[in-house]
Amino acid sequence: MLVDGAPRVACVTPARRVAGRTVTTVDGLPDEERRAWGDAFCSTGASQCGFCTPGIVLRLAALRAKGSTDVDGALLAHLCRCTGWRTIGEAFEAYGVDGGPRDLEAASRRAAIEGGVPQRVAPDVALGGGGFADDTAPVDALVAVPDGRGGWAVGETLTDARQAAGKVQGRRTTAALQHTLGVPEGDWDVTLRTTWVEPAYLELDASWCAPGREPATPLANGGAFGGKVASEAPAVARRLADEHGRAVRVLLSREDTVRLGPKRAPIAAGAGADGTGVVRVARTEGLADAVRAFAPGLTVEEVDVAGPPTSSALRAAGWAEAHVLLSGATGTTRAVRSPSGAVAEAEVADDLVRVRVSCGDALDDVVLRSYCIGATHMALGWVWSEGIAVDEAGDPHDLTIRSFGILRAREMPAVEVEIDHGGGEPVNGSDAVFAAVAAAAWIGEGCAQDWPTRRNK
Ligand code: FES
Repeated sequence: MLVDGAPRVACVTPARRVAGRTVTTVDGLPDEERRAWGDAFCSTGASQCGFCTPGIVLRLAALRAKGSTDVDGALLAHLCRCTGWRTIGEAFEAYGVDGGPRDLEAASRRAAIEGGVPQRVAPDVALGGGGFADDTAPVDALVAVPDGRGGWAVGETLTDARQAAGKVQGRRTTAALQHTLGVPEGDWDVTLRTTWVEPAYLELDASWCAPGREPATPLANGGAFGGKVASEAPAVARRLADEHGRAVRVLLSREDTVRLGPKRAPIAAGAGADGTGVVRVARTEGLADAVRAFAPGLTVEEVDVAGPPTSSALRAAGWAEAHVLLSGATGTTRAVRSPSGAVAEAEVADDLVRVRVSCGDALDDVVLRSYCIGATHMALGWVWSEGIAVDEAGDPHDLTIRSFGILRAREMPAVEVEIDHGGGEPVNGSDAVFAAVAAAAWIGEGCAQDWPTRRNK
C-alpha cells in the first residue's frame, strides 16, 4: 500500500501507525494507471497466482513516480514464489507499451498445465482479481484457526479465534539446518543430503463455507505447485459451518502453514556413474514409486524421521532428485525427460541461466516462459539457499517467509528461455526445467554434498 504516497508493506504495518494518514491500495490508483499496470504484468507474464502483485504494482508505481529504475532494490521488501522476479522487471519496462493481440484462453490453458490446477491469465489477475479463497467470505462469518493441538479454535473475529488458540508469533530461528538422514554406505561417485524445504506459497491455506453448501476452494488461481492440493481447509470449513449453523472462514497463518503444510522430503543418497545408487528418504507416500519409475537403477529406502508432513505432490518430487543424482554422478548436464514427456536442458552460471524446453504446443510463449523462469528460481533456491530448521522432536523452527531462504530479486540471474515450437500435445514443461536447472546448478557447485550449498555465505 501507499501511505501518504510512500510504499509501505501492509502485512507488517500496525493500523495505529497509519491513523490520520492517507492509505492507497491498488484499487485506489487512477483507473488508467491501474489498467496500464495490469496490462504490463499480463503481457510480460509477471504474475501467475497474482497474490504478491497488488503490492508489487504499488511499489513499482512509486518507483516510477520518483524516476528511479532500481526494480530489484525496490523488490527487497517483497516476495514472489511464482515468477522468479525477472518478468517483474520486464513489466516495469513494459508499462504503457501496447503488448499486442493475444489469445488469453490459450494462455490460461498453458498456465493450468504448468500450475497443475485451473489458472486464469488476464490483466486483472495482477491487480488482485485472481479469486482467492477468502475474497468472497461473508463479513459476519465465524473464523476458525488451528489451535495448536490438532483441533480448531473458533471465534467471532480473527483476533478472538487467535486469542482462543493462544497463537504465538513466529520468527526466524537461530537454529542451524539439520541433515537428519545419513548417506547410505557404498562406494559412490556422488553423495547428496537435502533437508526439509517449505513450498512457501504466498496465499496461505484458506476456505470458507456456509452450512450445507460447498466450501470455497484454496486452488482458485493456482495450486502452489502441489503445496495446496491436499489442503484440509475446505473440509474443515464445511464441517465447522454445519456444526455451528453459520458460515465459517478457515484461515491458516504462516506459522500454521509451516507446521501443518507439506514439505519437500529430505533425502540422503549415493549414486554411481553407472546409474545405480541408494536413495534414503523420509517416508512419504508415493515418493519411492516416483524415484523408481524415473530411475530403475536407484534403490529407495524409506525411513521414519520426526519432522513436518511431507508430500510427493510437490513439484517433480522424487524424480527431480533422481535426475540430479544421476547427472551429478556422471558430471554432465544432460537433457531430462519428465514423466509428462517434456524435455528440458539447462546451463547455469551465477549471472545467467539458459534453459531449453520442449513440451508440445506452447499455447502461449509468455506464460510458458514465465513458468520456466519461475521454475528456474525455485530450483536455484532449492540447491543454493532454501531449507527450514527442524528440531530433534520434528518441529519446524523457521516460521516466517523470510526465513525459508527464497532467492531475492537481486540474487536471481538473468534467464534465457528457448522454447521448442515443434508442436504436439501440450504437457507440463516447467517441472522438467526445474529438474534440469537443479542438476546443472549442483554440478556448478562441484556436487557439494549438502543442500542448500550457499545458505551461510
Ligand atoms: Fe507472485 Fe504468485 S505471482 S506469488
